[in-house]
Amino acid sequence: MQDSDGFVREAVRLGVRSRSYFKIQEIDLRFNLFSLNQTVLDLGASPGGWCQYAVSRIGSGGKVYAVDVLELKPLEQVHFIRSNITEQQSRKNLLPAIGSQKIDLILSDMAPNLTGISSVDSKNFSELYEAIFDVCDLVLAKGGALVFKFFQDQDSVKLKRECESRFATCAVFKPKASRSRSQESYMIANRYSL
Ligand SMILES: C[S@@+](CC[C@H](N)C(=O)[O-])C[C@H]1O[C@@H](n2cnc3c(N)ncnc32)[C@H](O)[C@@H]1O
Repeated sequence: MQDSDGFVREAVRLGVRSRSYFKIQEIDLRFNLFSLNQTVLDLGASPGGWCQYAVSRIGSGGKVYAVDVLELKPLEQVHFIRSNITEQQSRKNLLPAIGSQKIDLILSDMAPNLTGISSVDSKNFSELYEAIFDVCDLVLAKGGALVFKFFQDQDSVKLKRECESRFATCAVFKPKASRSRSQESYMIANRYSL
């Protein structure tokens, strides 16, 4: 396929907001994530490439809720909530923002800022994964799905086990659009069962 610069050029050519757009496209082609009229929650959504992809797949009857600590330029069918997902109160505030409707699919392309101090980075990653699972427990519909970015390290087996305690299946996938030297991967979890 294309090299990293190729993905950037293709993003510009198509007018999509990020090269990450191609990661969610690849994950979708492999795992068939979306269907018409879904309600999607995109955590760490700015600048909005995944939102654009989600909207193109769920049709005009679907809706995307997008969350980020940074601003998101408006997109049709996307309701933006500016919030830090690692803060417990911010997660609880998602409930009134989303209303009584349960979410079919939660996406997360978030990562903490790396400090280079492994104990600190590891704690920040754990905090982020816990926050993502907590959001699932708050708003994900039974039978719903989750896709989240994680970094392969010595804790990955534990993370997958934790994922499997909530979902019937959890698979690890690294899209070609993800730089090969990066340790990032994606967990694709299906059939939420808590
Ligand atoms: C790689 S970017 C997402 C790119 C996006 N998927 C796209 O296609 O445009 C990660 C985003 O996660 C956001 N983020 C990181 N930690 C966050 C947190 N704790 N709460 C909310 N957003 C967060 C960052 O601000 C950043 O915009």
